[in-house]
Amino acid sequence: MSLSRRTSTSLGTNEVPRSLTSPLDLVSDFPAIPKGWSYLDTAATAQKPQAVIDAIARGYSETYATVHRGVYQRSSEMTLAFEAARRRVAGFIGAPSPDELIFVRGATEGINLVAQSWGGANLKPGDRIMLSVLEHHSNIVPWQLIAERSGAVIDVAPLTEDGRIDLDAMAGMLTERHKIVALAHVSNVLGSVLDAKRAAGLAHEVGALLLLDGCQAVPRMPVDVAALDCDFYVFSGHKLYGPTGIGLLWGRFELLDAMPPWQGGGAMIDRVSFEGTTFAPPPARFEPGTPHVVGVLGLEAAVEYVESIGLDAIAAHEEALVREARAALSGLNSVRLFGPEDSAGIVSFAIEGVHPHDVGTILDESRVAIRAGHHCAQPLMRHLGVDATARASFGVYNCRRDVEALVAGIERVRRIFG
Ligand SMILES: Cc1ncc(COP(=O)(O)O)c(C=O)c1O
Repeated sequence: MSLSRRTSTSLGTNEVPRSLTSPLDLVSDFPAIPKGWSYLDTAATAQKPQAVIDAIARGYSETYATVHRGVYQRSSEMTLAFEAARRRVAGFIGAPSPDELIFVRGATEGINLVAQSWGGANLKPGDRIMLSVLEHHSNIVPWQLIAERSGAVIDVAPLTEDGRIDLDAMAGMLTERHKIVALAHVSNVLGSVLDAKRAAGLAHEVGALLLLDGCQAVPRMPVDVAALDCDFYVFSGHKLYGPTGIGLLWGRFELLDAMPPWQGGGAMIDRVSFEGTTFAPPPARFEPGTPHVVGVLGLEAAVEYVESIGLDAIAAHEEALVREARAALSGLNSVRLFGPEDSAGIVSFAIEGVHPHDVGTILDESRVAIRAGHHCAQPLMRHLGVDATARASFGVYNCRRDVEALVAGIERVRRIFG
């Protein structure tokens, strides 16, 4: 199985994606993946296609200048390119306006921004915040910090048997005291996909906002924030085949416009005097200091890259790889699989009597790179009754060969451990 890249970003409705007719192995787009190495840690960070590396190299070696400040031509051109990238990324996630897009360092910073700015201005003692058992620490700890400061209380929605956020149970827990619901769109451990639209409906019914942590969703499926009807959406560029150090917070404009700045500095102000400072409207209000100019260009190149393949094609590709991996692993009697059958691109598992770190080390000897550990989801590990899991996560460069290498590696682990 393999994917192909389209030369145009839009397919006619009756056109068949080229991936289904003339397969092309995308691994050759990724210079840091040597032949015979199965990289199965994309949920931690994705490898970079040459197009992204080239965009970054061009940004530093040909077009580099600061943005939003310079009066000289190079800086004006870089500002235009930077803002064009914002529009491109806005289109990619279905944001009604590019002014609703805040460039941040990553999902972690985006969630902290909302927790500190929106939460600091809106949460009062007795208010409630709804999270779920499967959240990444980045969608737990920022809320704990603001809960402590504001006197708000955190509730935790349980999971269904197969590892989805239990929205029926959450519906029964939500009250008008809940001011925000913050959930992973796709779990980084279980790969379970949230019914985000239903979650938005449930949150809005009690007057709460919905923040979606889209770190694992944006690289794996089409995302349209307007259609999802959420209020905030965050993701990290490096998980979308883009550079590290750049990510995105999208928020409804009226929410962002009413939020105070959370960090102060240059570029986010209207007027500064020692008597007082007034602030620029969003997005500038939340982008203090010199931004990660070239990171934004790299992110734009990453968006162009995945759009050239098609997010529907990527979703189908990863779902097929997950199905194959789960089918093969479920045939091995000492292997325990976590998460639902239809998980998106991510398979967590444990081998009876073998620590996941040993699984990871032995697989590495077979040139298969997986993640082993708690995946920054310790509450979920406790829920699963384990300290750690092994996790294989797929990207556009993976193919059936990688699943076969994973399964062969696991069989070797079982032989070594008897
Ligand atoms: C679901 C989820 N949320 C948040 C994060 C944090 O992302 P970052 O470290 O890029 O800020 C991750 C990263 O693993 C993640 O998988």
